[in-house]
Amino acid sequence: MAPSENANHRAWWKECSVYQIWPASFKDSNNDGIGDIPGIVSELDYIKNLGVDIVWLCPSYKSPQIDMGYDIADYYSIAPEYGTVADVDKLIEGCHKRGMKLLMDLVVNHTSDQHEWFKQSRSSKDNEYRNWYIWKPAKYDEQGNRQPPNNWVSHFQGSAWQYDEKTDEYYLHLYATEQPDLNWEHPPVRKAVHDIMRFWLDKGADGFRMDVINFISKDQRFLDAPVKDPRQIWQWADKWYANGPRLHEYLQDLGKILKQYDAFSVGEMPFVKDESEVLQAVQFDRNEINMIFNFEHVDIDHGQYDKFEPGSWKLTDLKNFFERWQTFMYNNDGWNALYWENHDQPRSIDRYTNAKEEYRLIASKMLAVALTMQAGTPFIYQGQELGMRNVPPSWGIEEYKDIDCLNHWHGMIKQKQFDTKAQEIALQEYQKKSRDNARTPVQWSAAENAGFTGPGVKPWMSINTDYVRINAEAEVKDPNSTYHFWAAVLGLRKEYLDIFVYGDYKAVDGASEEVYAYTRQYNGSGRTSVSHSSNLLNKIETRVKSSEGQKALVVCNWTEKDLKWDAAGNGFAKVKEVLLDNYGSAKEAAPRISGDQWSLKPYEAVVVLV
Ligand code: GLC
Ligand code: CA
Repeated sequence: MAPSENANHRAWWKECSVYQIWPASFKDSNNDGIGDIPGIVSELDYIKNLGVDIVWLCPSYKSPQIDMGYDIADYYSIAPEYGTVADVDKLIEGCHKRGMKLLMDLVVNHTSDQHEWFKQSRSSKDNEYRNWYIWKPAKYDEQGNRQPPNNWVSHFQGSAWQYDEKTDEYYLHLYATEQPDLNWEHPPVRKAVHDIMRFWLDKGADGFRMDVINFISKDQRFLDAPVKDPRQIWQWADKWYANGPRLHEYLQDLGKILKQYDAFSVGEMPFVKDESEVLQAVQFDRNEINMIFNFEHVDIDHGQYDKFEPGSWKLTDLKNFFERWQTFMYNNDGWNALYWENHDQPRSIDRYTNAKEEYRLIASKMLAVALTMQAGTPFIYQGQELGMRNVPPSWGIEEYKDIDCLNHWHGMIKQKQFDTKAQEIALQEYQKKSRDNARTPVQWSAAENAGFTGPGVKPWMSINTDYVRINAEAEVKDPNSTYHFWAAVLGLRKEYLDIFVYGDYKAVDGASEEVYAYTRQYNGSGRTSVSHSSNLLNKIETRVKSSEGQKALVVCNWTEKDLKWDAAGNGFAKVKEVLLDNYGSAKEAAPRISGDQWSLKPYEAVVVLV
């Protein structure tokens, strides 16, 4: 595409950034050891000052908490441990007052088995809710033993089918046994989901993060995956239950509602690699959803079959992944969601770098630059702005709380001789990849319990012992902290909006295993947005710099050593201006970031105009 023909749409949701909140671990207002919504309301200024525009609240609805709220028992009420619907009203009001928006989590591939719909559904074959879930008769093997309807496995171990004695049938649960999958083929289910969306949008919520949204349409043949080794079943997931035949029809229906409210939407989509599949969901004119979370870069350290098997990766794997997604989205009027962390992923500093403690600050700032200067809507997960780390390596299994990890452990115990050595390896992998890493309480101060909950209270999950050094109070005070650096990066992105939001992306020094570099360049005015610009978003005070013809270069030293970078050899003999450097002031960095060879310090990240 010739530069002046850039046909990408502008839209307010491309320009903003999102802060994700996991309510159980954010802040406890009433000293019961569990984070809650009033706790969030009390820290809205802290969030606002980071420079984000949107707050995403993870599921806070009534739930037995088998999967920490991703098992919803009632979409219209709030879990009492988190507060009330009136508290959510206050949260919405508090966000809006500060020019921020609020996203709710929409979890509608499945419900809790404690949801009234499922209680009805399992009660008899002719109950009017029977078809709301996916029920199938048993299969029998040659010896006459009862078997599940097919060989699909649950994301949390074991068969994806649960036998229910009452009606002598199995129901499908792609996640925990207590998370039965809804049957989207049945029109009343779709209508019920539309009603839930309208309810929260009418209350003033500004959009949704949509849980495993590409699982809602499944291949109705429910065939066995053709594998002998059950560990290979995952490779068939997208053939049978992800991206099913009616996915885009369903998403178009959701899109109509979203459009009426000019709402924000991001869909979680595991198992999508195919570009045309992704584009059908996010291309601007398709009116389905704004953007998706894909998994390629977070699956990077998984083993061949299982995330808890040891895995390894190279910097070029990560770079190639980004280049591909950046390019096909730009060329096709699509849009990326940018993230390193969320409630399902370990801390980025430990996953993507080997930084020793002395480089923690610098390396976490480098990760902020590497991601946020790309084209897409950045998502920051609570604690990431502080450079919070994975759980301590000394943790035993009794500290882990997450069903994903605990079911894995119990599966290991059942399946094989799980000796001390094997246990040790499993624990090492949990410390690297378990979801618990993201779920330790936010470290607010150096006070007892890190200021997350009151002194003497036992928090629902142990707090990382490093809170004495890594905490919000210290970082807010320190102008050199990761927190303030994030604010600077988000500010720069808005200041040079044309370049960093609407510009193209070109890989630089692509083969290097030490340096991650790319350019961003704005190539034209872009198409005017049909989506009206929201009056809520943080507007940068200074006039947005006009960027026609300007090009930015981002260079990150992904190693823990001093590096010479061949700027001239990569075509950048001249730097016009250093905009940002993670070692401090751009001015001080400028002499090193100039000439034919740049001198980069360990984990140094720079953004320059060239
Ligand atoms: C998504 C959520 C995860 C949850 C799963 C089932 O992947 O992010 O936390 O366990 O869906 O709802
Ligand atoms: Ca509480």
